[in-house]
Amino acid sequence: MTSIRNRLLLWLLSALVVAVGIATVATGIRADHQIDDLFDYQLKQVAILLLHEPRPNVLEGENTGPSADRDDDIIAEVRTVKGRLLYASRPALPLPQGLPSGYSEMPIGKTRYRIYVTRNHYRRVEVAQAISAREELAADMAMQIAWQLLGLIPVLAVLIWIAVGKGMQPLAKITRSLKIRDSYVLDPLPEVDLPQEIRPMVEALNDLLKRLGEALETQRRFTADAAHELRTPLAAVQLQAQIVERATDDRERRQALTQLKGGIRRSAHLVQQLLTLSRLDPKMRSRQAKTSIGLGKLLHRCMTDLAPLADAKGIEMTRGEVLPLPILADEESILVLLNNLLDNAIRYTPKDGKVEAGVSQGDRNGVLLWVADSGPGIPETERERVFDRFYRCLGSSVTGSGLGLAIVKNICEDHHACITLGDSAMGGLRVSVWFPPL
Ligand SMILES: Nc1ncnc2c1ncn2[C@@H]1O[C@H](COP(=O)(O)OP(=O)(O)OP(=O)(O)O)[C@@H](O)[C@H]1O
Ligand SMILES: [Mg+2]
Repeated sequence: MTSIRNRLLLWLLSALVVAVGIATVATGIRADHQIDDLFDYQLKQVAILLLHEPRPNVLEGENTGPSADRDDDIIAEVRTVKGRLLYASRPALPLPQGLPSGYSEMPIGKTRYRIYVTRNHYRRVEVAQAISAREELAADMAMQIAWQLLGLIPVLAVLIWIAVGKGMQPLAKITRSLKIRDSYVLDPLPEVDLPQEIRPMVEALNDLLKRLGEALETQRRFTADAAHELRTPLAAVQLQAQIVERATDDRERRQALTQLKGGIRRSAHLVQQLLTLSRLDPKMRSRQAKTSIGLGKLLHRCMTDLAPLADAKGIEMTRGEVLPLPILADEESILVLLNNLLDNAIRYTPKDGKVEAGVSQGDRNGVLLWVADSGPGIPETERERVFDRFYRCLGSSVTGSGLGLAIVKNICEDHHACITLGDSAMGGLRVSVWFPPL
């Protein structure tokens, strides 16, 4: 399992090691320059001292101490201008002759030396020092700094570990409070004193909790409504069954049985509509993947399916202009929408009436679906309410569950479509649905 703490620790320590590396190299380079200047100055000072030493030859023989062979020693030679040796700090290692005054570099044996030459009218002084002495000192200094910084890494690791742990505390607090919560508590998490990095996550979580609460409330209301609405038709079915039981002759029994069958059909239709509503309610389900579909083709299919119903009532069902315009939709939902609108138009239109439907170009490149009939229409005052669940207009002898238009409205919301009810030219209702452009 990945741990933010471990990952941060790893990254920060890696960055620290890289920083120590860079600091070491930079210190080495800077120290090298400064040591060069210092050693050059030292060489010059020694040379000047020897140039003015009244009796340089007395120094001869004093260079036999234990440090005589050290690499970082300064080797000096004093000669007369004619070349006679007056003094040599290391006679076994004669310095090159004929070098110009000032600084120069050259190998003596296997070692490279930095040499300074100075002279006056009487003497010529030459001092030399191995270049490796300078490089070693610079490297030593850089390494000392590197070790000191590296020594700090374990201390920093502990501090980072503690700091990250402290920084993560708000997250741990949220986790604890969510863990001990009861499943039905959907109160938002407190948003005060939250670090900037965690606030968006808590806000998103609270938003989700809010939507979850709404969905649960919708589901709860739906279950209560469904139970309530089912009670009446089921009670009627029970009563009709009792009438069948008590019927004394065949005619009476047949009549009661017909009523019982009607009651069962209505209950089954109600259950079917309830299931459709719960299946298509955007608040109770995840959004369906939408594809480009031809509305005209689906309209044709639905009209063919419902033709027997229209024929039985002598209703003339025709298609108006049907343009081949595609919409982005879930095919199954659109079929349910078309079925409900056409079913309403056929069922609420009296015998020998007319139903017409079509697909045309809507505003701003949208697609307009319309269904018109020659029925009684819906009074303007009720045109909003008919979209409510279980709402039915009074005064109609047609049976129904009052869920069709609620289902249609849900489907419209899911497709960002807009539905309006108006008057048709045939005197009945005209339902218009505007689908947004593809
Ligand atoms: N084309 C129409 N003409 C006249 N009235 C209509 C028309 N369509 C719907 N209505 C009225 O709107 C009400 C609600 O319609 P809706 O389709 O939601 O329910 P329903 O038809 O009663 O039942 P369901 O469709 O669930 O079987 C209906 O009861 C009816 O009074
Ligand atoms: Mg209906």
